Amino acid sequence: MKCDGKKKYEADDLACERLQETVEPLVEWFRENQRDLPWRKHVNAYRVWISEIMLQQTRVEAVKSYYTRFLEELPDIKALAEVPEDRLLKLWEGLGYYNRARNLKAAAQQVMEEYNGVFPDTFEEIKKLKGIGSYTAGAISSFVYHQQKPAVDGNVFRVVTRILEDSDDIMKASTRTKIERMLEQVIPAEAPGDFNQGLIELGAIVCLPNGEPRCESCPIREFCLAYQDECQMDYPVKKKAKERRIEKRTILRFCDNEEIAIRKRPGKGLLAGLYEFPNVEGHLTQKEVIEYAKESGLTPVRVKKLPKAKHIFSHVEWQMKGYEVIVDELERELDQKIWSEQVIFAEKEELEKKYPMPSAFAAYQL
Ligand code: ADE
Repeated sequence: MKCDGKKKYEADDLACERLQETVEPLVEWFRENQRDLPWRKHVNAYRVWISEIMLQQTRVEAVKSYYTRFLEELPDIKALAEVPEDRLLKLWEGLGYYNRARNLKAAAQQVMEEYNGVFPDTFEEIKKLKGIGSYTAGAISSFVYHQQKPAVDGNVFRVVTRILEDSDDIMKASTRTKIERMLEQVIPAEAPGDFNQGLIELGAIVCLPNGEPRCESCPIREFCLAYQDECQMDYPVKKKAKERRIEKRTILRFCDNEEIAIRKRPGKGLLAGLYEFPNVEGHLTQKEVIEYAKESGLTPVRVKKLPKAKHIFSHVEWQMKGYEVIVDELERELDQKIWSEQVIFAEKEELEKKYPMPSAFAAYQL
């Protein structure tokens, strides 16, 4: 839909009328067809908040078990505000985007200090909390406090841009604001949460992104312009993100019979504060690894090549080679000066239970 000047205003009005038609059937469909998900039981702000943050950039199926474990260990805001960072990151290990977890704790501390431990109940107050943007504030305030506020995530962008054949770039803030403003006008006072969740759920299980959308099961297809014109796959329009930088790294497992060397990453930047195996830039040969080990004060007894692995972050891709360097007595031999960060000698069980390690290293955890 082309939108400019006065025409845009008229076009938005028509778009709102079209969206208005979807409200009743969508709410009814959601009430009858919603999936049975752990965060939809015993709804409260804390539970919705944790689930929505976990669901950002992570699939529902992957989130379920993390969510259940997290809620068991940290059942309320106070527990989250007080959890030690390493424990928090261990509960988050594998979910990625670890700042999401740190922000959760910071926001819980904010709620304890500024709101006496009671989660705020308006969109504006909720949005002031660390790590909460307009989507999450909209989700909590509409699902839990029945405010008529939109919650626009990737699912909702897809559903709405298809209904309206809206070809504005969804990466632009102005497109988000426009869609939020239109939805705000049609969110029903008696069911804001079910309407918003209906849009999200429809995007998740019917109005699918790749492959064929399941239009034959869609309760609002008669109002969908893209369905009528058979151009569902043209929406949403999303400008290509910048290409990822490729980084070659060599991962090193320095170990003896009992322990393995790990270190804590710096507090800022990629995978901040998590633990890792020592690693260096570039792809080292076996000979170079032996030299590196010797410079570190080690006498390798055996050096074993490990499989190659790849890990994709949002802006960078690691292409990894790995080696296991076995020595007699790790702690005695290792000259810590070679690494700027402190080396930790971890026992196998500690590696599993105590130190949060990002899944980028999963191939080398053995
Ligand atoms: N994706 C994002 N939020 C969701 C939710 N509340 N339920 C299901 N899928 C989602």
